[in-house]
Amino acid sequence: MLTLRTACGFLSNDSTMSSADLHLSKLPHIGTNIFTTMSGLAAQYNAVNLAQGFPDFDVPSYLIERVTHHMQHGKNQYAPMAGVLSLREKLAIKYASVYGIAFDPADEITITCGATEACFSVLTAFIKPGDEVIIIEPAFDCYEPAILLNGGKPVFVKTIYPDFHIDWQQVEEAITSRTRLIILNSPHNPTGTVYTKEDVQALRALLQRHDLLVLSDEVYEHMVFDGLHHHCLAADPFIKERTLTVGSFGKTYHATGWRLGFCAAPAYLTKEFRKVHQYNTFSAVTPIQHAVSDMLDDTDWHHNLSSFFQSKRNYFLNLIKHSGFKSIPTQGTYFQLLSYAAVSDKKEADMANWMVKEMKLAAIPVSVFYHDKTDQQILRFCFAKKDETLQQAAEILCKI
Ligand SMILES: Cc1ncc(COP(=O)(O)O)c(C=O)c1O
Repeated sequence: MLTLRTACGFLSNDSTMSSADLHLSKLPHIGTNIFTTMSGLAAQYNAVNLAQGFPDFDVPSYLIERVTHHMQHGKNQYAPMAGVLSLREKLAIKYASVYGIAFDPADEITITCGATEACFSVLTAFIKPGDEVIIIEPAFDCYEPAILLNGGKPVFVKTIYPDFHIDWQQVEEAITSRTRLIILNSPHNPTGTVYTKEDVQALRALLQRHDLLVLSDEVYEHMVFDGLHHHCLAADPFIKERTLTVGSFGKTYHATGWRLGFCAAPAYLTKEFRKVHQYNTFSAVTPIQHAVSDMLDDTDWHHNLSSFFQSKRNYFLNLIKHSGFKSIPTQGTYFQLLSYAAVSDKKEADMANWMVKEMKLAAIPVSVFYHDKTDQQILRFCFAKKDETLQQAAEILCKI
């Protein structure tokens, strides 16, 4: 029997595989992901959970009222494959007003079952066996398996520690005649970095020299701090022509469990994207699409989200300022990286394991976001939590 481990070295639930299972598996080196594993350990050890990226406060009550309304008024059958039209139209209006970008709701916007489905459908639509895909590391975990399942080859380029900026020269050196697509993510999970104007310019120059598609994962677009701005890559017309932009209503409306996201892209790309989406999930949950469409009328919501999460970040950082954990600046998302190098020489996976079991606090080792498990003695903490939860976590951190 062979032992299968999750990316960070925790034993996964399906932890043993026979060689027959290995022969069967299309993803033999991938186990239960770290978020499921850590949330499971947090529940088992009754720990404060700052590991998985979800809020522990409620969705807006207006949304609950609207979902209930639409369920009670017959919106319970299949939604159109591309998504409820009013939702696509309102999203197009938002793109125009927030970023000055024109997306045609008819053939350039598709509503999906979360950004995860959108990423999977993009990679399935465009990656053929042997194609190479550039992933900038550290990286969220849903991209690599989708590339592998389609016979593609992930090519990893690391950002530069400690500010995690992209070295565009290194990106260019990773491009070969087989490179089909590059995956970008800003605001960035797990580092909290936000692309600059210079990043956008460097990307445009790269795309002018190389014929690539871009998957731009912008699920944290409305969580950007300290007066910085989110640069939606599609705001640059040259980049837009070859880019599929992925977003998540789950992130924007504190409703990750509702599994609602989208993909916005030029018509020639959307046409291919929808061929996969229609046989992957067909359509997302109907009453939720109607409710989110209603919610999009409240433009204050997404305008105020950054200041809401900036206050959470500041609150958390203030509580731990006398601890031995050193913060690595976060410009966006709802994640804070903390270096524990001053308090322990444990490896990240061991530190996270020890913390959840002995100290009753769950966090994510950043090494799991690297294919080679690069270890920098950093953990990722989610601050999308009630103040009480952040206080409990901070008390523990101050004791370590
Ligand atoms: C960078 C990034 N992309 C995509 C997703 C998936 O979003 P969704 O919950 O809408 O599937 C997440 C969720 O944590 C994420 O952090």
